[in-house]
Amino acid sequence: MRHLLDTKHLGRVEALRILDVAEDMADTQRREIKKLPTLRGKTVVNLFFEDSTRTRISFEAAAKRLSADVINFSAKGSSVSKGESLQDTAQTLQAMGADAVVIRHGASGAPRTLATSGWISAGVVNAGDGTHEHPTQALLDAFTIRKRFFGAESRGRDLAGLRVAIVGDILHSRVARSGVWLLHTLGAEVALVGPPTLMPQDASAWPATIGYDLDAAIAEGPDALMMLRIQLERMNAAYFPNEREYTRSWGLDARRLAALPADSIVMHPGPMNRGLEISADAADSARSTVREQVTNGVSVRMAVLYLLLAGGHEWTEDADE
Ligand code: NCD
Repeated sequence: MRHLLDTKHLGRVEALRILDVAEDMADTQRREIKKLPTLRGKTVVNLFFEDSTRTRISFEAAAKRLSADVINFSAKGSSVSKGESLQDTAQTLQAMGADAVVIRHGASGAPRTLATSGWISAGVVNAGDGTHEHPTQALLDAFTIRKRFFGAESRGRDLAGLRVAIVGDILHSRVARSGVWLLHTLGAEVALVGPPTLMPQDASAWPATIGYDLDAAIAEGPDALMMLRIQLERMNAAYFPNEREYTRSWGLDARRLAALPADSIVMHPGPMNRGLEISADAADSARSTVREQVTNGVSVRMAVLYLLLAGGHEWTEDADE
């Protein structure tokens, strides 16, 4: 694997390989000494043009547990705020000898530009680009679902037979976009549920059903309900009347939680708006995988960095390229 830019072009075999390596990484993370020597001498740069806490520290923990050197570069307070271009920044990182660049950027497509521009030779990992994709989030979500449903039998398995409903602000969500492609590739059935104003026009072309009624979606008995954050910072218009109305129609509250099948799980990528899209009862219930998602995120990112930098294993994106 040279880069991880999206899940749309990630094939089933490749995706399962990442999830299975992440299982091995997770095993090492249960030991008292979590650090492996695997990436000693390699340099991973976290290049974050958008605010992020959990994703950045998750990549940082992943790289450090593999003994890589980590450089955190956040655009605030850097020459980027003085107008330096992505190209100049990239060339600086190249000159410093970066082996992998983990990039989060407000512009959809920035990671692909970086990977294909020829400015750097490092492997590029997309850590969230605009409203486009967030592939490691989708991988950690798939890992979490697989682990909850198949436990010790997870290795090698896909998600065939499982039904996942992704709920809320689909329009602004790169988590939803990456999730739809990966879950579909792994054989799960995906339902998108949210207000019509927050459903992207092109969603009809995605491998998922579209619905506007959360109670109806819950009545269908999904195995996993993935609640999305309302991305107020990306909203420049009124997409719903007010927060109370949103919660009434689209929020996961105690009543809806109780209506879910007994063995179903509730997911959220974080950060949560408690009381808006998800109530405290739901977020803290035994069904909630929110904290597992964070833990699994480190294992999945270790797997991605390992396959990128030490895997000795080439693969190609399998769809239209
Ligand atoms: C997600 C993101 O940044 O896209 N969060 C994350 O990676 N921790 C989802 C979100 O911000 O709602």
